[in-house]
Amino acid sequence: MIRTYTFPLLILLTGFLVVNIFHSCQPSVKDKIYTPGEIWNDTSGNPINAHGGGILFHQGRYYWFGEIKKGKTWLVPGQSWECYRVTAAGVSCYGSENLYDWEYLGVALAPDTINPDSDIHTSRVIERPKVIYNKKSGKFVMWLHIDSEDYRYARAGVAISDKPEGPYTFLESMRPNGQMSRDQTLFQDDDGKAYHIFSSENNATMHISLLTDDYLQPSGMEKRIFIDQSREAPAMFKSKGKYYLITSGCTGWSPNPAMLASADSIMGNWTELYNPCIGPDSDSTFHAQSTFVLPLPGKPDEFIFMADRWNKTDLQDSRYVWLPLIFLNDSARIEWKERWRN
Ligand code: DGJ
Repeated sequence: MIRTYTFPLLILLTGFLVVNIFHSCQPSVKDKIYTPGEIWNDTSGNPINAHGGGILFHQGRYYWFGEIKKGKTWLVPGQSWECYRVTAAGVSCYGSENLYDWEYLGVALAPDTINPDSDIHTSRVIERPKVIYNKKSGKFVMWLHIDSEDYRYARAGVAISDKPEGPYTFLESMRPNGQMSRDQTLFQDDDGKAYHIFSSENNATMHISLLTDDYLQPSGMEKRIFIDQSREAPAMFKSKGKYYLITSGCTGWSPNPAMLASADSIMGNWTELYNPCIGPDSDSTFHAQSTFVLPLPGKPDEFIFMADRWNKTDLQDSRYVWLPLIFLNDSARIEWKERWRN
């Protein structure tokens, strides 16, 4: 009698143990906690390498593109500023469904390791890649900052691909409308129009340039904003029909206060508002610099503020600072959080 009960009981107990061990090995929803500034591993357990990045949301999946920073950091000789750099290693791409677990999808734009005259040669600067999808052409279009190691080349590069993760084919670099272009981002509006926003005029003034319908060229329609304000690291977003732009000051790799500006139309008048960061360390953007503001699909007016905490003397150890951006009484706020959940 005792024996007949023991066997099914043992099976039940073993099943219970197996299920529990399995669960304790799987990251549960409560484990998906952002810890800004800490090392963030991809799903293979390697630190995510996607700096100065931006996110594309396409067919239910997020794609994170960023600068690959690896190897030794050195100071470029003969510069009057802290011109630290690493060998340009191209642009990486990671994929995620939940914005927390990122799968490494490979090098989206590979650098040219052979031709020293190439715009994407390893001796150049390849920064702040952003990708948008062009419905008409069916192409994924990447814009990025291309520079010489002393940052005097000041150009924007364009690359395209048939697949979100790449590989991307580099088309050309240019000075949009004949203007210098360094820190940059893209913004795609609800009507399908896309804009290239970049630090120009030797970083003194920011430009917003409407792109052609295929997103591959400047259309020629351009607006100068923040004249002589020396702003960089632009990140544009839209809330309740209004346009917002977060930028940083120009202090090389060192952090400084962010500034929020808004406009009723992109090519209209931009009003400088205030530093959206609040609380301790808000004057250094929590020791970081803006790169992108991600609207959360299905959650109107909820955003993630993405920034880079640069480690200027060891750039490959730069970290990510992702924080919630919320609107309180119509004013955008970013507050430091040691740990938070999306
Ligand atoms: C600040 C920019 O935002 C970065 O992308 C990079 O270009 C550094 N300057 C270089 O000092």
